[in-house]
Amino acid sequence: MSINLFMPTYRVEECIYEIKECLEKGLIVNKTIEFEEKWKKYTGLSNAHFLNSATAGLHLAIKIFKDELGWKDGDEIISSPLTFVSSNHAITYENLKVVFADVDKYLCLDPEKVREKITDKTRAVLYAGIGGNTGRYKDIVKLCKKYNLKLIVNGSHMSGTRLDGEIVGKNADVIVYSFQSVKNLPTADSGMICFRKKKYDDVVRKLSCLGINNKEYYMNCYEKESYKWKYDVEKIGYKYNGNPIMASIGLVQLKYLDQDNAYRRQIALWYDEAFKYYKNFIKPIPVIEDCESSRHLYIIEVNNRDELIKSLSLCEIYAGIHYIDNTEYEMYKYGKGLCPNAHRLSTRILSLPLHLRLTKDDVREIASKVIKFASCI
Ligand SMILES: Cc1ncc(COP(=O)(O)O)c(C=O)c1O
Repeated sequence: MSINLFMPTYRVEECIYEIKECLEKGLIVNKTIEFEEKWKKYTGLSNAHFLNSATAGLHLAIKIFKDELGWKDGDEIISSPLTFVSSNHAITYENLKVVFADVDKYLCLDPEKVREKITDKTRAVLYAGIGGNTGRYKDIVKLCKKYNLKLIVNGSHMSGTRLDGEIVGKNADVIVYSFQSVKNLPTADSGMICFRKKKYDDVVRKLSCLGINNKEYYMNCYEKESYKWKYDVEKIGYKYNGNPIMASIGLVQLKYLDQDNAYRRQIALWYDEAFKYYKNFIKPIPVIEDCESSRHLYIIEVNNRDELIKSLSLCEIYAGIHYIDNTEYEMYKYGKGLCPNAHRLSTRILSLPLHLRLTKDDVREIASKVIKFASCI
């Protein structure tokens, strides 16, 4: 039987029930608003707006700060080369410069390396919690405060991650989540943007719907038939809003998020246990103390990454890489050589299968193959 890296688990009957309600009523239901309210309650964050993806959310976060705070083309945002490329594209969409800083042993931005990259053109730090781990998020928060930089958190892997017992994100200026199909809270494709300040939440609701300023229209609220076509468009926006079908799935999946993440942590513990005598050549990426990780990923560092991935796939065990150093890509090659740790790690890390359908026996089987094929030199 083959074992995939990812495999979403949907509560199918419950999802169908919610979606059916939407379809039967001709989408005349406020599932998006309901999902936003439930997300706020779950996270304790003050604002939440439902979007069609995290990529859209990251773009809007940067656009809104740029417009509202008067950032200029060419101003800089410090980001990681070891992340999904949409993080860095979001900066580039707005004609801002991605300034790459190196990562630490948690695969997250290293606060010290970030500090070294701050110039008088730096406006923000885009921080991604890789695999659900917060890394040294608290130091990044302090740094942003000290240098008066906006903190934009890419929480795509962090649905349900807690730090010191609290959901992460309250002290960020904005946190963006992904609910794409392989994430901890899978819909099919959607995301959530949570600004700390209400005034930005008001703006994002317009910009995610083409700039239209009519509340009923942009909230995807079809209940009131009257006057929804009467609106003004103050500035250009995008078609980035989330839809009620995705929100219906999200509402169901949210009920299981903590329980699912607990099982993910259990899987990670089984892997840890299996590798504990092999730490000199199979090094699990650590989770920082005080972080209850969502465990989106289980990443190890090995000496023969590419061969290991091939050998595993011959046994029908499919691993992955999170991520290729973005400065290897043509459009970000200007950053090549600036982040040696990220570069070195990106040639040595692989993500092992981690999803809710794995059993303890599956994990044992995967781990025994890793131990067999990982090279000790
Ligand atoms: C770290 C990271 N950032 C951003 C994204 C983009 O998320 P979405 O597909 O919801 O746009 C992903 C999804 O793969 C991701 O893993």
